[in-house]
Amino acid sequence: MKALQIVKYGEIKDSLAFNEVSKPMVHANDVLIEVKAAAINPIDKLIVLGYLKDMLPIPLPSTLAYDVSGIVVEKGSGVSNFEIGDLVYSRVPQEQMGSIAEFVAVTSAAVSKKPGNITFEEAAGLPLAGLTALQSLEYAGIKANDKVLIHAGSGGVGSFAIQYAKAKGAYVYTTTSTDNVKWVKELGADRVIDYKTEDYKKIVKDADIVFDTLGNNYTLEAFGVIKKGGKVVSVVGPLDEESAKMFGMADYKLPEELTKLVKDREATYKYIFMQPNGAHLGEIKSLIEDDKIKPIIDKVYPFSESVEAFTHLASGRAKGKIVIKIA
Ligand SMILES: NC(=O)c1ccc[n+]([C@@H]2O[C@H](COP(=O)([O-])OP(=O)(O)OC[C@H]3O[C@@H](n4cnc5c(N)ncnc54)[C@H](OP(=O)(O)O)[C@@H]3O)[C@@H](O)[C@H]2O)c1
Repeated sequence: MKALQIVKYGEIKDSLAFNEVSKPMVHANDVLIEVKAAAINPIDKLIVLGYLKDMLPIPLPSTLAYDVSGIVVEKGSGVSNFEIGDLVYSRVPQEQMGSIAEFVAVTSAAVSKKPGNITFEEAAGLPLAGLTALQSLEYAGIKANDKVLIHAGSGGVGSFAIQYAKAKGAYVYTTTSTDNVKWVKELGADRVIDYKTEDYKKIVKDADIVFDTLGNNYTLEAFGVIKKGGKVVSVVGPLDEESAKMFGMADYKLPEELTKLVKDREATYKYIFMQPNGAHLGEIKSLIEDDKIKPIIDKVYPFSESVEAFTHLASGRAKGKIVIKIA
């Protein structure tokens, strides 16, 4: 089968190649998905650049990407929750990475039927970003009337998180640049802050939750806009001690500056590394089918233009999801 692979670490144009590879093995708990569409996320770019070599070691060459939608064409002997012909979507687990290919095998626990009211391309863009938003906001215990700041509302994660937070009844602040203000407002955000002309730190006060999708200073500044006892969940900031253990860093300590801010604000800080989860994808399916959340697609590329899709991703300016149509 044809697959887009990383052949070495480095710049995108030098490191990706279309290769002919064997179909993946289907183990007892796996379904084999005939891929209709895949989507890419910043993690795929970080893998290519070699930044995650130690954290997420992979053999080279490896087929790329985690997000997939398609049709179940084969299943292992232990799979009872899916049938051949089911239309599904998934965030493929690390050890089965490789959705930019004609087929991908995925443990059935990470798979869900796809929402029935959207296309394969739209469904492929949902799993990684949607699970990230859902798991982060649920960790923070989001509830009706919470004041929530979601950074980068126009990104893949942010555009989903705004809609998820609104579905939960929260009041949503979000940041984006001037060109994106109008359509991000249409996602339901109550106060869209144009970071080119406004300072969010002067607008957001006493937030219950900050969802930090930007890192660096944004992680530290979050403690200046939360209420006492508020929660900061980050998907790009420093690891917390529990997450560090997950990556085998037993002696890791939260940076001092962050420890002090957490203490001063009597706050919670948590780094979230999203986890594949078929049940959570089932919840997302319901939200989509109930029209609570709509998929936001920036651009769909044909399989043959996957490298261009990666270049677009690397710009950091995606408006929603970047999808690759496989078949
Ligand atoms: N830990 C995890 O499990 C996990 C999971 C998913 C993602 N992540 C991380 O989360 C981050 C976001 O992911 P994503 O998929 O949403 O990325 P993305 O779709 O590539 O984000 C692009 C968006 O970020 C916005 N942006 C950039 N700088 C901004 C700023 N200073 N203020 C406000 N918006 C800004 C851009 O809007 P403008 O063009 O308007 O600036 C653009 O729309 C990435 O760093 C990713 O690696 C982590």
